[in-house]
Amino acid sequence: MKFSRRMDCFGEGIFTTLAEIRSKRIAAGEPVIDLSIGAPNIPPADHIRKALCEAAADEKNYVYAISDRPELLEAVAGWYDRRYGVKLNPETEICSLLGSQEGLAHIALSVIDEGDMVLVPAPCYPIFGDGPKIAGGRIWHMEQKKENDYLIQFSEIPEEVARKARLMVVSYPNNPTTAMAPDSFYEELIAFARKYDIIVIHDNAYSELVFDGASCGSFLNFPGAKEVGVEFNSLSKTYGMAGARIGFCLGNEQVVSRLKLLKSNMDYGMFLPIQMAAVAALTGDQSCVETTRKAYERRRDLLCEGFDRIGWHMEKPKATMFVWAPIPEHYATSQEFVMDLVEKAGVIVTPGSAFGACGEGFVRLALVQDEEAIERAVAAVDQSGILKKR
Ligand SMILES: Cc1ncc(COP(=O)(O)O)c(C=O)c1O
Repeated sequence: MKFSRRMDCFGEGIFTTLAEIRSKRIAAGEPVIDLSIGAPNIPPADHIRKALCEAAADEKNYVYAISDRPELLEAVAGWYDRRYGVKLNPETEICSLLGSQEGLAHIALSVIDEGDMVLVPAPCYPIFGDGPKIAGGRIWHMEQKKENDYLIQFSEIPEEVARKARLMVVSYPNNPTTAMAPDSFYEELIAFARKYDIIVIHDNAYSELVFDGASCGSFLNFPGAKEVGVEFNSLSKTYGMAGARIGFCLGNEQVVSRLKLLKSNMDYGMFLPIQMAAVAALTGDQSCVETTRKAYERRRDLLCEGFDRIGWHMEKPKATMFVWAPIPEHYATSQEFVMDLVEKAGVIVTPGSAFGACGEGFVRLALVQDEEAIERAVAAVDQSGILKKR
């Protein structure tokens, strides 16, 4: 058999490796507290689950959906207007996705050609680079450095790279660094994209997980944004619907229509009960969003203060469901620390290197366990002694 060269740039995902370690430990009866993958454990509110169950009980809802139901598109447009003050044309500026991951994996196929340059943050959520790689894109990394508050510095992008670039992916609140971006960043981003005619994708997966009474908006709210790009949004974290797989690509009409065209040849639309659950989520009582935010905020405080007390110092994130923590000085690599952490304390976290070489020196902890498990994780790390110099 011959296989595609395209796959040579993909190794086994770190999350698969970590899942195997987890399974082996569980099979051996050893304790595991998994803070690696960002899989939310806060379920959708009752009214969302009820809408899903009712729609799933209706035999008519098992046909191919083919396209987005008008009531879903209206619900999304209403949500963007109420929540972000952004007006969207439901017919031309919104495309549903089978989770934003699916859209991020496919969109480059509809906007770039083989060999085109794509600007991607570093470190970054892996699909930001992997999607363009599937499409044959050449990746140029825009570093997000701690000394710049993890903000991309447009002045560091060489002129010849900017001129060749066709697409760029940007995302704040940021996974894994947890950074947020000020308004001036988005103004600069839009001016840069306009100057070099680059399509922008802004991933806004964490806009509702902003803590300490602060909030953030939408890229599409900035003048000129719709002319240069699209925003991705997701119901996975905001409404706890990760397994139901629903997200959206919104904004620039041409980009949305190219993605719709590609998807119309790839899938037959989203399971109707999920579309109906999303309508319930977006148009129903929004207090569940605040409840979820508060739950993550409490977990953040418990985790950061707990580890701080036992000598592992990390900054409290202002947003997202993650903590981006420096590895103890006596470890050479994040991978080495992660392996020791799981072996000696039974705590699984993601090595920063999984997000690209620029993530080295850090690990990402996901706030996906309840408070009792977080306290157990702190106690287990303390007892393991791995924070002390060997
Ligand atoms: C930044 C970012 N974008 C997208 C996703 C994928 O979300 P979805 O469940 O909508 O595919 C994640 C998931 O962790 C994420 O962290």
